[in-house]
Amino acid sequence: MKHLTRRYFAFVFIFLFVILPMRVQASAPIIIQGAMACETESMIAALTNPRDERIGPWRFVSGDYQGVPVVVSVTRIGMSNAAASTVLGIEHFKPIAVINQGTCGGHDPSLHTFDLVIGADSFDYSAWVSQPQVHTASAEDIRFFAYNENDELHYDIKLHADEKLLKIAKEQAKYYTRGKAVAGTIATANSWNRTPGRIHFLNTEYGSLCEEMETHSSAQICKMYGIPFIGLRVLSNTELHSESFNPEAGVISQEFTLMVVKAYYASLQESQN
Ligand code: 5AD
Repeated sequence: MKHLTRRYFAFVFIFLFVILPMRVQASAPIIIQGAMACETESMIAALTNPRDERIGPWRFVSGDYQGVPVVVSVTRIGMSNAAASTVLGIEHFKPIAVINQGTCGGHDPSLHTFDLVIGADSFDYSAWVSQPQVHTASAEDIRFFAYNENDELHYDIKLHADEKLLKIAKEQAKYYTRGKAVAGTIATANSWNRTPGRIHFLNTEYGSLCEEMETHSSAQICKMYGIPFIGLRVLSNTELHSESFNPEAGVISQEFTLMVVKAYYASLQESQN
């Protein structure tokens, strides 16, 4: 009898602390973020068993994408919205990874509308300090900075994508047919930058391939939570070639993102077995 009780407790222990956490881990979702309807609607439409909910003013639709548990998070536009909805998404859904995706404007002269930028890293190009003695700060008079997760000021401004997500995105880029695919830097700010000089400066001095308004915010929050993150963007416009905003880029970005989501999930499952 004593023997049995011990066995029973051993079983309960193993179930509670080994098997149950494994199952929870297996069903934890990937959060896929997009700011606008044109960047989220087709992913939401692709979900089976969708559950549509709001947390505060932000929409989250959880469901199943071809066997992968996902949450499509409609962040709304801009850095504050991206940060706030990332925190809520992480706290509420405990994701295994976060992908921020959607449209962007080109910074690299080689890129055109529908070309894909895989965000190997990102930075906040609105976080800068200017020179005290200069009347009007030109691009060259500013220096970008960042605060790290220990609240320390530093000049190593870029946050890097999760290595596994980056590797898989690059592999999937081989199947990207809507344009060119490149990996590099995404520049984020609450700005829509139309000045060729400023675009040239960001591109040549900081290696920025494109600009948008959310990626780096989400990257910062994910870094603090220790959650794997990547930004994926498709050019919807580029001042450098007078190409104006085309929302179709949002649809293409979602298509590519779902390819990455599937491949990432498959590779996680493979490494678990
Ligand atoms: N500059 C800034 N944001 C852009 N977006 C697309 N192109 C640009 C651009 N050239 C995206 C932002 C934001 C929305 C206004 O469009 O990420 O969500």
